[in-house]
Amino acid sequence: MEATKKLFVLLCLFLTINQAISESEHMATFCNESSGNFTSNTTYNKNLNTLLSTLSNQSSFANYYNLTTGLASDTVHGMFLCTGDVNRTTCNACVKKATIEITKNCTNHREAIIYYFDCMVRYSDKFFLTTLETKPSIWWSSHDLVPKSYGKFGQRLSEKMGEVIVRSSLLSSSFSPYYLMDTTRFDNLYDLESIVQCSPHLDPTNCTTCLKLALQELTDCCGDQVWAFIFTPKCLVSFDTSTSSLPPLPPPSRSGSFSIRGNNKILGGMALAVAVWVFAFLGL
Ligand SMILES: *[C@@H]1O[C@H](CO)[C@@H](O)[C@H](O)[C@H]1NC(C)=O
Ligand SMILES: *[C@@H]1O[C@H](CO)[C@@H](O)[C@H](O)[C@H]1NC(C)=O
Ligand SMILES: *[C@@H]1O[C@H](CO)[C@@H](O)[C@H](O)[C@H]1NC(C)=O
Ligand SMILES: *[C@@H]1O[C@H](CO)[C@@H](O)[C@H](O)[C@H]1NC(C)=O
Ligand SMILES: *[C@@H]1O[C@H](CO)[C@@H](O)[C@H](O)[C@H]1NC(C)=O
Ligand SMILES: *[C@@H]1O[C@H](CO)[C@@H](O)[C@H](O)[C@H]1NC(C)=O
Ligand SMILES: *[C@@H]1O[C@H](CO)[C@@H](O)[C@H](O)[C@H]1NC(C)=O
Ligand SMILES: *[C@@H]1O[C@H](CO)[C@@H](O)[C@H](O)[C@H]1NC(C)=O
Repeated sequence: MEATKKLFVLLCLFLTINQAISESEHMATFCNESSGNFTSNTTYNKNLNTLLSTLSNQSSFANYYNLTTGLASDTVHGMFLCTGDVNRTTCNACVKKATIEITKNCTNHREAIIYYFDCMVRYSDKFFLTTLETKPSIWWSSHDLVPKSYGKFGQRLSEKMGEVIVRSSLLSSSFSPYYLMDTTRFDNLYDLESIVQCSPHLDPTNCTTCLKLALQELTDCCGDQVWAFIFTPKCLVSFDTSTSSLPPLPPPSRSGSFSIRGNNKILGGMALAVAVWVFAFLGL
């Protein structure tokens, strides 16, 4: 798996989206081509269908669920994770959509993963819950640079998010494990909203490592952007900036609470140019 350091850029799309990005926007689907195929109507197929149906149903009760079905070579492991700031209705809608889409898109694949802005769904014939994995990942960003007046934005971003990552590692047993959103105003000029979250099965050390690697990838690609978002198999990191034409900030946000724009990771209602890079499964 260390070979996964080598990145394959499968896809480099530049999409211009002339309206708000819907919160349940699809980001990417990865069908693992080297994991092999199963045959329709076999036990594995039935176990997978049961698993996806269970995940879909469970998403109206929790933001995270993991499940194993079947025995021996017919065993399927699966999970979903909704971002910590979405409610049950949104989580359920996202996971439902994801389970349908992953079945259509990765027909007969023994392993696949799908990312949306609001959730991710994954299944595999191998146990993966506690392992730290960084690929396949997907990031999206605005195509708008922050104004020069923001000064040392990149440095502030790294420092602030580094601090949020450290704080989030203390939340492994909270209601929304490892989810933390922070909003900080700089120079009374702009607000920086930072969001981090790990899969609840990671231990705190692996969670911190996952978030640090994701943050590194995000600052490398998008550290001068107005907003950016990265999803990896085990964690997500995003930031968003907004100008201080907003009303005064509420007290600093804590895990599970909402900022004034807590429901809205992505700036809505404006033309956004979105850069999409997809880093593929390795060893295809
Ligand atoms: C894809 O499947 C192969 C074969 O099972 C496995 O070695 C590899 O780790 C998988 N890739 C990812 C990204 O999980
Ligand atoms: C697996 O199934 C997919 C979809 O049915 C197909 O495109 C692909 O060629 C198959 N791969 C192998 C190795 O059979
Ligand atoms: C799988 O089973 C369904 C319903 O029993 C049937 O309609 C379909 O033709 C079967 N597919 C294959 C590939 O055997
Ligand atoms: C999920 O819910 C639907 C509708 O209530 C039900 O038909 C289905 O059996 C459930 N799936 C599982 C695996 O429990
Ligand atoms: C989730 O995974 C853990 C193993 O890490 C397992 O003990 C637990 O039973 C799983 N939950 C379900 C509902 O299968
Ligand atoms: C859940 O969140 C969505 C999107 O923010 C919102 O439209 C919806 O009203 C919320 N539903 C509930 C029950 O709070
Ligand atoms: C699978 O996803 C890819 C990329 O998201 C898309 O281009 C393709 O049309 C999808 N295939 C199916 C069968 O949905
Ligand atoms: C942390 O991740 C590594 C690599 O996936 C794994 O081997 C290790 O077991 C994980 N640590 C714990 C405590 O689960």
